[in-house]
Amino acid sequence: FEMMTEADLYTEYKGVYLPKELHSQESLKYYEDFTFRQDDILIVTYPKSGTTWMQEIVPLVQSEGDLTPVLKIPNWDRVPWLEETRAHVLDLENRASPRLLATHYHYNMMPASFFIIKPKVIYVMRNPKDVLTSSYHYYGMASYLVDPGTMDEFLQKFINGKVMFGSWFDHVKGWLKAQDLNHIMYISYEEMILDLKDSVSKISNFMGKSLGCEVIEKIANHCVFKNMKQNKMSNYSLVPAEFMDQKKSEFLRKGTSGDWRNHLTVTQAEYIDAVYKEKMKNFKDIFLGDL
Ligand code: A3P
Repeated sequence: FEMMTEADLYTEYKGVYLPKELHSQESLKYYEDFTFRQDDILIVTYPKSGTTWMQEIVPLVQSEGDLTPVLKIPNWDRVPWLEETRAHVLDLENRASPRLLATHYHYNMMPASFFIIKPKVIYVMRNPKDVLTSSYHYYGMASYLVDPGTMDEFLQKFINGKVMFGSWFDHVKGWLKAQDLNHIMYISYEEMILDLKDSVSKISNFMGKSLGCEVIEKIANHCVFKNMKQNKMSNYSLVPAEFMDQKKSEFLRKGTSGDWRNHLTVTQAEYIDAVYKEKMKNFKDIFLGDL
């Protein structure tokens, strides 16, 4: 059996790899021509940084704690990725405001309308060593991604941006540089792990929703890892095993910060720290504090 390579599985678009399975030329064009609304709420992440988690929290804030949307609608339809093939069949033009949307694009890949309209953005960041660890497992279970090989091999690709959506470093730097606090909110996966209630409260303030303590508590309680993992509309159990083999690794896999300690050697971790120091020179204290 032949191993599938990057050339087989990925297309190159604006300098980054995108898995062909999820991104057609037609869907990329649809996004290029997409018209934002000022009150859209756009979740932006580098993959494996907490997208699915945010696709649970944001609709619940919007519904003021009513669980119906998250129990009835799969995450990819309730907060669709604008670059993926499904987006253009969802009739987003006719969705009521505020529309809840997602993207993995880098700042400099965003379509023209984004820079004119300036919709609300929630940018979620995660410790790169945990993003690497989570990605490593994900690439091992998703058939539309190139097999990760050994951790050393995958780490090289990750550092060099030879993975889907390119370099984590460029993604985070690009969005941090964009700082426009009127319409971009920055939050980290680690903050959400430390205090989910406080995070939900910050998100709801940003979305212009004033929710009572009980509602915030209800949302946070539904969104803790062990509870959210049971939600069939969010745990990817609806995806056939030929695309995602959750017997190899679950999509909601570990849900902690610092799991890299169980998967990276000291040498590998120190290597990433050194690369981080170099590449994130002017950014290193902004959000992660302790790598
Ligand atoms: P791990 O592989 O480290 O467990 P994304 O949704 O951007 O692809 O990110 C997936 C990562 O977010 C996975 O990380 C997944 O387990 C984690 N995640 C999803 N829902 C979560 C939740 N409710 N609480 C904590 N982590 C969550």
